[in-house]
Amino acid sequence: MQMKQDSPIGIFDSGVGGTSIWKEIHQLLPLESTIYLADSKNAPYGYKSKEEIISLSLKNTDVLLQMGCKIIVVACNTATTNAIDLLRSRYDIPIIGIEPAIKPAALQTYAKSIGILATKGTLSSALFHKTIGEFTKDISVIEIVGEGLVPLIEAGKLDSPELIELLQKYTRPMLVANVDYIVLGCSHYPYLIPHLQKILPENVKIIDSGKAVAKQTRNILKKNKLLKESSTAPVCQFYSNAEISVLKMLLKDFSEKATVVKKDF
Ligand code: DGL
Repeated sequence: MQMKQDSPIGIFDSGVGGTSIWKEIHQLLPLESTIYLADSKNAPYGYKSKEEIISLSLKNTDVLLQMGCKIIVVACNTATTNAIDLLRSRYDIPIIGIEPAIKPAALQTYAKSIGILATKGTLSSALFHKTIGEFTKDISVIEIVGEGLVPLIEAGKLDSPELIELLQKYTRPMLVANVDYIVLGCSHYPYLIPHLQKILPENVKIIDSGKAVAKQTRNILKKNKLLKESSTAPVCQFYSNAEISVLKMLLKDFSEKATVVKKDF
């Protein structure tokens, strides 16, 4: 009989971006099996209503639970900030979310000025406003909606001139406001870090939440006695309900252990 500890970690995102979170989880917990759902057919979530985001999040969670996952990681800031309370009240299983790393940026900024790049859905959520209110009282915060970035990443246009132009446009007002920290509040955006590093002056630091989510996943698994104990090789499955070529491209360094399959859900 399979022990609950051997069951996979379930992870979902509106698309391919949450693989940036999967990579952190896999690095920290290399023995754990995982099932990743890329809801690319419905991406981007960033412009959907709260009700739509909740209904898509419920659908993804149901699929992962039917596949026997022991814990759910919502690898999407937009879904977390709009749906995590409801998911937690609905399911009797640990649910980890991802939120923009406002607190560490607010604690570390020397300039007392930080930038946040995220989706419209995240920036307009009540949870985001609550966090901003709590941690940035004496700090100026420049919030920018990364309009158009997710569709370009979903299309695999990671090095396209359009994408670089958008990054220049979105970081300009942040630089004018003398930010020294930029928070990446969308799990697709860590894939933009190489371009951002070229655009931004050296004193501007980029923060994302990937490592914190991986640590939290480990802590919660441990607390619930759900960490995998056997040393059998992990099974890492990735499902997309759209084209799988970009997902495969982002996972090319893991092709020996990751299976990428198209599936309707
Ligand atoms: N990757 C998602 C996030 O972290 C959502 C992007 C989108 O679908 O708009 O917010």
